[in-house]
Amino acid sequence: MRRIILIGYMGSGKTTVGKALSKETGMMFYDLDWYIESRMRKTVAQIFAEKGEEGFRKIEHNMLHEVAEFENVIISCGGGTPCFFDNIDYINQQGEVVYLKATPEVLYRHLLMGKVERPLIKNKTPEELIAYITEQVAKREEFYNKARYTLDVSLMDNYEKIQLSVDQL
Ligand code: S3P
Repeated sequence: MRRIILIGYMGSGKTTVGKALSKETGMMFYDLDWYIESRMRKTVAQIFAEKGEEGFRKIEHNMLHEVAEFENVIISCGGGTPCFFDNIDYINQQGEVVYLKATPEVLYRHLLMGKVERPLIKNKTPEELIAYITEQVAKREEFYNKARYTLDVSLMDNYEKIQLSVDQL
């Protein structure tokens, strides 16, 4: 039984890498944000608007425990998932955790290209956004760095071409 769990800041490519790994291995892919949305029948943005970040984190924590029960899967977490409750220690017990690490500049570029509505970064000017990302990544690295593996994705331009074999893990 194998379970690969991807963590990292918003825009680090967790979903894209997760899908690529799933294609390569045939293991099912679960994106925690999508799982939350389908279970709650609401978007992450709606949950934030209705219950605030604290409400969202509780739901995220509970849903994490649900997806982490599945076997032979690849799971991509939300950017904040490892940083609340005991989530990072829990996920480390559930599978092989990979931190997708990228510089704030790369994260910023990816986020500008993204189509998903991300409540924590909306309504920010480019300068505010880059400062916010830099500050948040600095705070969150304490949790991200607890992953068993770190993959620096800053130099990867085309995630579709990612040739990451799970045997390398
Ligand atoms: C968040 C990241 C988002 C989502 C929510 C909060 C965060 O997931 O869970 O908007 O705190 O970094 P992605 O990293 O998949 O965008």
